Amino acid sequence: MKILVTGGAGFIGSNFVLNTRAKRPDVTIVNVDLLTYAGNLENLKAIEGDDKHLFVRADVSDREAMGAVFAAHEFDGVFHFAAESHVDRSILDATPFVQNNVLGTQVLLDLSREHNVGRYLQVSTDEVYGTLGAEGLFTEDTPIAPNSPYAASKAAADLLVRAAVNTHGMNAVMTRCSNNYGPFQFPEKLIPLMIANALEGKPLPVYGDGQQIRDWIHVDDHNEAVWVVFEQAEAGAVYNLGGNAERANLDVVKRILSELGKGEELINYVEDRPGHDRRYAMDASRALADLGWSPRRTFEEGLSETIRWYIEQRDWWERVRSGAYRDYYEAQYGSRLGV
Ligand code: NAD
Ligand code: DAU
Repeated sequence: MKILVTGGAGFIGSNFVLNTRAKRPDVTIVNVDLLTYAGNLENLKAIEGDDKHLFVRADVSDREAMGAVFAAHEFDGVFHFAAESHVDRSILDATPFVQNNVLGTQVLLDLSREHNVGRYLQVSTDEVYGTLGAEGLFTEDTPIAPNSPYAASKAAADLLVRAAVNTHGMNAVMTRCSNNYGPFQFPEKLIPLMIANALEGKPLPVYGDGQQIRDWIHVDDHNEAVWVVFEQAEAGAVYNLGGNAERANLDVVKRILSELGKGEELINYVEDRPGHDRRYAMDASRALADLGWSPRRTFEEGLSETIRWYIEQRDWWERVRSGAYRDYYEAQYGSRLGV
């Protein structure tokens, strides 16, 4: 089986590629990633030289470049992870979010249809549903109501997938997942940022009152669900994925400090994120009822394991923070990249 994975040098995508190569030896992966600031080929060092992993540096919104990739390979499936993913960056400049997340999705839908790809999977997010108050959960029937430019670009992409299913009868499915954490997460996101800052004795910036709630899921649980949905879901289906782990940001930060043996004086309350969603919580019961999927890791064990990873892989995040990870691409790949 040959699949296209987009965004496979990012956080979730690189974990997906590594786990897929480890657990599904028959799957060949063509990994297309633009290597934006968030793409890091050092994440994929463990599979260097693997002839069932081909890396192609390309922009998913570039129809010509992607057309060449589809023409060179016969894909049985497309897993679309690539995106601009950080809410704070979308507040500063929404344009790359529209280009990469919206246009990129349409290009992949068109090419998947033209080339009769067996199945297309869109990796989406709970943020398309907007925000919750103190009670209730997002279900797949919750109206789409995004609040940040990032969330709006992901919602637009979801609607394009829906339109491709309804208009063209495309065999596409969609996952909407809550907040991921785990190895190789870029240290601009809450958990890796707080761990790295605490390890360096730097202040930990908590937005507003820190009482915003997120539903945390380990990246491996998310990626296992992506395969389950790809293999079992009916065409056009949408599945919510969550970790059953609602936690207030401040509690997460305090737990990280306590596990690292650091004091709470490092906490620094800063101005809130504009339009900050107060609470996300997923009802993932449809995935359990239809597909038998539920997350396997508790937040507490997953977080401890993740903290240990960032302690042991200090070199990884120090190279990200210094920018040195960007040199790796040229040194490792130079011009020997193919379609
Ligand atoms: P990330 O920012 O860590 O990685 C994104 C990757 O996409 C990078 O490697 C980047 O180089 C690549 N990319 C960006 N634009 C591209 C383009 N035009 N062409 C090719 N590659 C491009 O993001 P992540 O956290 O791994 O998220 C992956 C996907 O999962 C995204 O679609 C995101 O919306 C979704 N998601 C993330 C979370 C989360 O908590 N991180 C939760 C639910 C859904
Ligand atoms: O819910 C899924 C989404 O989770 C994904 O779709 C996004 O791609 C992913 O980035 C993530 O979005 P969030 O905005 O929830 O993640 P972030 O790690 O940026 O922030 C988590 C919470 O922590 C949020 O309430 C903002 C807060 N925060 C974040 C940072 C970076 C802080 O208080 N301080 C910080 O420095």
